[in-house]
Amino acid sequence: MKRRFSALLATFILVLPAAQLTSLAVEARATGVNGGPAVTKADRQNLAHAQQALNEGRRIFRYDTFGDEAFWGDTIKLHQAIAGSRFGGVGPGLTPKAALGLGLKVDVDALSPELVGNLKKGLVDLNDPATTLALLKANAVVGVTGFFNSSGELRSVGVQCALCHSTVDNSLAAGIGHRLDGWANRDLNVGAITNLAPDLSAVAILLGVDEATVRKVLAAWGPGKFDAELILDGKGFRPDGKSAATLLPPAFGLAGVNLHTWTGWGSVTHWNAFVANLEMHGKGTFYDPRLKDPAQFPIAARNGIDNVRNTPDLITAKLPALHLYQLALPAPRPPANSFNRTAALRGKQVFENEAKCASCHVPPLFTEPGWNMHTPQEIGIDDFQANRAPDKRYRTAPLKGLWTHTKGGFYHDGRFATLREVVDHYDRHFGLKLGEPDKLALIEYLKSL
Ligand code: HEC
Ligand code: HEC
Repeated sequence: MKRRFSALLATFILVLPAAQLTSLAVEARATGVNGGPAVTKADRQNLAHAQQALNEGRRIFRYDTFGDEAFWGDTIKLHQAIAGSRFGGVGPGLTPKAALGLGLKVDVDALSPELVGNLKKGLVDLNDPATTLALLKANAVVGVTGFFNSSGELRSVGVQCALCHSTVDNSLAAGIGHRLDGWANRDLNVGAITNLAPDLSAVAILLGVDEATVRKVLAAWGPGKFDAELILDGKGFRPDGKSAATLLPPAFGLAGVNLHTWTGWGSVTHWNAFVANLEMHGKGTFYDPRLKDPAQFPIAARNGIDNVRNTPDLITAKLPALHLYQLALPAPRPPANSFNRTAALRGKQVFENEAKCASCHVPPLFTEPGWNMHTPQEIGIDDFQANRAPDKRYRTAPLKGLWTHTKGGFYHDGRFATLREVVDHYDRHFGLKLGEPDKLALIEYLKSL
């Protein structure tokens, strides 16, 4: 049938004049031959739905606070520290310079042409909290929304997914540029930002400790890290005394990947509901009976975090579009000159053959299709973080776009500062005995993904 059709098409092409050929091509596209674009009414409806959901998902990812200003503003009063006493808040206020220093990013596309011009000419005072307030009014601080009252005072503040999972391309200046959604913001110091808030008593009560202890834990996180499990098990520090926080992972390149987070908590949408409700403190619904275990998750069990219900629910209806948006974000390709092509080609061989990396990091997903989880022993590291999640394992990290998150190190806690250290670890653990040129080639390949 198919062959007869192509033969027929070939005959037409041979005999038809150019104008008719073009219309034939349009016709072929319109009928969706060879899996081409949409064509039936249902196809077109699906496409329109996908486009609309994608736009909606992007809006949610960037701008939706899910009502979490009730926590960041009303409860811990972060807005007061941002505004400073001169503008109705407390303390000196947050200057743009300090905000950029904490890793917050500015969306150049939200700024007026005059402001962009003045920034370029160095005419904007980056040492005045008034400028920070102006940026918030322009909705230009990535992942942070300011709520202002009628007299122009900052009355609350909320956060979005983009806070941790977007950065900017620095097109105007360091920290100021076009948005890059899905990129992990490894400059962002979530702990230090939260510590600006004048009142962390609610967090202290939740964790059952004093406020000074909460502040000590937050101060230990450092840039590019956050501890999603703290509010479940109350573990601020590891047995070795270091912070229990993990690196912010990217939220791109996740389509086709089964389990998510460093320790495989669940699907993308499970984790989105988890974070929006429990970490951002938005107002929605969340159900995960695994959190009822008082031995593994004492704080969660005590506070009923396994079953959260809010009316109205500002999260659940947004999960489908948010899910789709993340799955649509591709891992960005590395710049052409950022790795050695010849070495990377050899490195691919090493990855797939001698070093057996591809047995877990299966190309092109670079994680296993299926249950992509491994015990700490399998990958030769300690079990602290694994034991803070239901499956007590580590998820095979998808490696696409690795070049975008080289800051902060590698593995869930950044324990390996460089790819060289990662490769040396595997070489030792698996007894690979890779030669020096193969190690270097493997590193170039990892940079090329
Ligand atoms: C305060 C910082 C922060 C915010 C805000 C945040 N995340 Fe995350 N996100 C993290 C951290 C840290 C992890 C890793 C958690 C872990 O492994 O325990 C993570 C993990 C993820 C993952 C898993 C990535 C992977 O490699 O599988 C996805 C997807 C994700 N977040 C999406 C979102 C979405 C969508 C939102 C908004 C609803 C959001 N995050 C808000 C910090 C944040
Ligand atoms: C047994 C399965 C397995 C094998 C084999 C394996 N890995 Fe991994 N890999 C993992 C897991 C699981 C993680 C996540 C570790 C963590 O979160 O701490 C990981 C993490 C990584 C990371 C860090 C990613 C990030 O985002 O920080 C890199 C890089 C990496 N592996 C490269 C390799 C290379 C190169 C090889 C071959 C020499 C290899 N892996 C072999 C399972 C494996």
